[in-house]
Amino acid sequence: MSTPTEVTGATAARPTREERSQAVWTVLDLLKWTADYFASKGIDTARLDSECLLAHALGVERMRLYLDFDKPVTEAERAAFRELVRRRGSERVPVAQITGVREFWSLPIRVTADVLVPRPETETLVAAALELLPDAEAPARLLEIGTGSGAVALALASERPALRITATDVSRSALDVALGNAEVLGLAERIRFVCGDLYTPVQGELFDLILSNPPYVAESQRRTLPPELAHEPDSALFGGPDGLRVLEPLVRAARVHLERGGGLAVECAPAQADHVAGWCRKAGFHSVTNRRDLAGRDRVVAAGGGG
Ligand SMILES: C[S@@+](CC[C@H](N)C(=O)[O-])C[C@H]1O[C@@H](n2cnc3c(N)ncnc32)[C@H](O)[C@@H]1O
Repeated sequence: MSTPTEVTGATAARPTREERSQAVWTVLDLLKWTADYFASKGIDTARLDSECLLAHALGVERMRLYLDFDKPVTEAERAAFRELVRRRGSERVPVAQITGVREFWSLPIRVTADVLVPRPETETLVAAALELLPDAEAPARLLEIGTGSGAVALALASERPALRITATDVSRSALDVALGNAEVLGLAERIRFVCGDLYTPVQGELFDLILSNPPYVAESQRRTLPPELAHEPDSALFGGPDGLRVLEPLVRAARVHLERGGGLAVECAPAQADHVAGWCRKAGFHSVTNRRDLAGRDRVVAAGGGG
């Protein structure tokens, strides 16, 4: 980082390393420098990322930075921040993995390299589930397949107090993260976490609603993906050559695991949504709809009247 007070005159000497480290850097100086640096690296959310990382390094809420724009940042704080900036800018580690937390459905969700960072578009899945469970007080049984950090199950548990939830994953380390999140949020009593492939851990059980955000990225797209995705587990992202390896059996087998009239909602790639809707109709679901995410892309297929 060059200093914010660096001299621009042609005859001025360049500041030494020591002078640079002793220069006064304010919160705003650091934010501007870092946002420019991230933008030069092709990071779209350059300013937001700088704010999140500086707030994390200083141990304050992001909004606090706006009140402290002129506050000087100490060398020790800058050293801590520099390391975070390096991981984000050079290694392209996602911000949530650096800070260890991502907000989802207004809940703070702890994330590690063992889980997918919850995405804003997955809130479409939560919204679809809430529509399939219109009575907030009605007892119902929910199955979430591939819970990862637990974000979806926790959002549903926080919205529907009478819901009994079973959340599965093939990854034991992901389930550890999910259970930790449930404990921190005081929701662990409400969710049963079980390990296994698709419906294997819940054989013989029936549910009122099945939800999933399965790995659905086609292996063929790997080389076109942003570098950040290399830091997330392959098993959370990739669904075989066409992205359907988990999605298709999950949808096709859903109906036999549902109570009469039960519902299904699954997240998928926009290009997969019509296939998924077709499988749902073929499986005997009555009302099948595609839901769009905030970017206007088909993202979730919701189906009711199964079982
Ligand atoms: C896209 S992530 C979703 C994580 C979380 N539900 C979310 O929406 O942020 C998919 C998750 O499914 C899990 N998974 C992959 N294949 C699975 C399978 N065959 N059965 C159960 N879970 C699976 C992965 O380990 C991963 O945690």
